[in-house]
Amino acid sequence: MAIAQDLLAQQRPTAHSIDSVNVNRWSPRSFLEKAIPEETLLSVFEAARFAPSAFNFQPWRFIVAASPEERERFYTFIGEFNLNWCKKAPVLFLIVSNTETEKGPFPSHAFDTGAAWGTLAHEAVRQGLVTHAMTGFDFAKAREALGIPESYAIQALVAIGYQGPSDALPEGLAEREVPSPRKPVQEVLFQGTFGQAF
Ligand SMILES: Cc1cc2nc3c(=O)[nH]c(=O)nc-3n(C[C@H](O)[C@H](O)[C@H](O)COP(=O)(O)O)c2cc1C
Repeated sequence: MAIAQDLLAQQRPTAHSIDSVNVNRWSPRSFLEKAIPEETLLSVFEAARFAPSAFNFQPWRFIVAASPEERERFYTFIGEFNLNWCKKAPVLFLIVSNTETEKGPFPSHAFDTGAAWGTLAHEAVRQGLVTHAMTGFDFAKAREALGIPESYAIQALVAIGYQGPSDALPEGLAEREVPSPRKPVQEVLFQGTFGQAF
């Protein structure tokens, strides 16, 4: 069973009013072995298109693995801990960013691509899906296996699908299947100069 929305809200109380999608997005590790309809998956990437980027350069690119053969190729570079749980996810995708324009380096490639990931992760919630980002994989092996040009930086790998029951997870992971807490806003928000309380 997916964690009920009211339980999610209890685990992650908010000090100020925000849209519920912000609280409801979290990173479970238990996935149902259930395919994502192509139209639903395309809606998720459609949302990513609308992220802001410097000069509207849209540096993000997504490499999807959905077929058994594509997923097997991804498994060759994913670390053991993550392989333990992400194999049930029906779709994995790698996020890369274009670091160069015709005029030279593009400094905000990572920032802009992070915005695209955030946007798609929220759309996934709206589509009834869950996402779990990972950097626990071999970046060099991924570059080789997927033919990623040097001018593209590897950012993260994401598992996406429908949430499964926590007791279906391998040993040691079920008790970690809870939404994580957050720093209070006072810790991350400054006024005027760095470190000055808001
Ligand atoms: C860039 C990035 C890399 C991450 N790498 C991993 C990973 O390799 N394995 C894993 O289990 N979780 C990974 N996570 C998930 C984070 O631990 C999780 O997002 C964080 O604890 C906040 O929890 P929440 O997403 O449930 O709100 C990663 C998340 C991000 C954004």
